[in-house]
Amino acid sequence: MKKSKHDFNYELMRQLNAGKQMKSVWTLPAPNGAEKTFGKHPTQKPVALLERIILASTKEGDLIFDPFAGSSTTAVAAIKTRRKFVGTELEVEYKDRPAQKTIEGTSCGQGDHGNYHD
Ligand SMILES: C[S@@+](CC[C@H](N)C(=O)[O-])C[C@H]1O[C@@H](n2cnc3c(N)ncnc32)[C@H](O)[C@@H]1O
Repeated sequence: MKKSKHDFNYELMRQLNAGKQMKSVWTLPAPNGAEKTFGKHPTQKPVALLERIILASTKEGDLIFDPFAGSSTTAVAAIKTRRKFVGTELEVEYKDRPAQKTIEGTSCGQGDHGNYHD
């Protein structure tokens, strides 16, 4: 069987954890009020959580696909960390939320970095 290849940015994770090895259990605050204004999804994740996941496991310029995008938290985190994003979301109610509008208003949302598909 071919060995799978994946990225794990150990040194960066260590830097983000004050020079100590990043543990596998992370404690982060729930989405704050401003994030909720953009998202308003019942199971919305904190942007900081998605940013850490992305920084831990991808490189700048990589393409990130979130097939269950909800309120676009992954898209926001991908753009903030200079990755490309493609997402799908079943519910138009969430796809058309202000976070998506924000993404569409950036250079990241104009075809070459971020895209949504129904
Ligand atoms: C757990 S929520 C994602 C929350 C998201 N991470 C956030 O921070 O807002 C899962 C989402 O997947 C969507 N979903 C469920 N089945 C789907 C499907 N077959 N295709 C696309 N989206 C789907 C739901 O509408 C829901 O918004």
